[in-house]
Amino acid sequence: MRYYQAEHEAAYRRIRQAGHTQWNDLFEASGGFEQFPNRPFLERILPELELPAAAEVLEYGCGTGPAACFLAARGFRVHAIDLIPDAIMIARRLAAERGLEVDFEVQDVCALAAESSARRYDLVLDSFCLQSIVLDEDRRAVFAAVRDRLKPTGYYVISTATHDPDRGYDPGTYDVATGINYQELPEGDATVDGATMINGRWHQPHRRHLTAPALRAELISAGFRVLRQEGQQGGDLICVPAGPFPEPAEACPELVEGGKPESPSGSEADQPRIRGAD
Ligand SMILES: C[S@@+](CC[C@H](N)C(=O)[O-])C[C@H]1O[C@@H](n2cnc3c(N)ncnc32)[C@H](O)[C@@H]1O
Repeated sequence: MRYYQAEHEAAYRRIRQAGHTQWNDLFEASGGFEQFPNRPFLERILPELELPAAAEVLEYGCGTGPAACFLAARGFRVHAIDLIPDAIMIARRLAAERGLEVDFEVQDVCALAAESSARRYDLVLDSFCLQSIVLDEDRRAVFAAVRDRLKPTGYYVISTATHDPDRGYDPGTYDVATGINYQELPEGDATVDGATMINGRWHQPHRRHLTAPALRAELISAGFRVLRQEGQQGGDLICVPAGPFPEPAEACPELVEGGKPESPSGSEADQPRIRGAD
């Protein structure tokens, strides 16, 4: 079984049983379906992106669809996928109640790269899914699928959890070097992929909390330009596809330090920009 499956299935069972409308309700009173965690970031950046009217959007890890519905209500054509059927079932109901059309689909984002699709998007959105995609090969697969599906003028907008020293990581289950947080398997089920023995007990990969510079470097080496990285721990990002020859992260140490946005050069000069990004 994939390491991200059981946890999310169980979470949406709880969400369904409790009558919640979104993932965040599991942790705090979210204030309703319309109030989702990355809404303020989206509200701030959308006018700057100047997306075409009726822009094509892909959201992966959409959950019950609060961001997908927010975008559909603004006239975008939204294709929203999530791994968990219960999440998509709730999402379809909530969208229908609001008279919104969203193309919701049950799909594993890690499997997208292996599938060909003719659909190309003006915006690919990740609203707190990426931290659950832990293993390097899975993250590479997600980034490859995003690059493949983005229009050359498209944006990849991410809100994700990153390393937060105040979280109080357990040094036994958090690997500082990789940012991987492991979780003990309840029944010691070593058939979960990526299962690893820690202190005599089976654990599975649970979260990837990279530092802000490491996340930025990862995105650059996956073929993106990071136009903006903000938020308290650098977890809100706007990226675009890099040119045909993406620079390796180590070639741009100032980016890894998380300091300056890169300046246009060579074939990248005609890449889309957001106002003020440079
Ligand atoms: C923290 S929740 C956020 C949900 C939603 N975006 C929101 O803001 O309410 C992470 C979401 O990613 C989904 N997810 C995790 N791994 C996934 C995968 N491999 N493919 C598709 N969705 C996945 C989970 O089912 C869950 O809905």
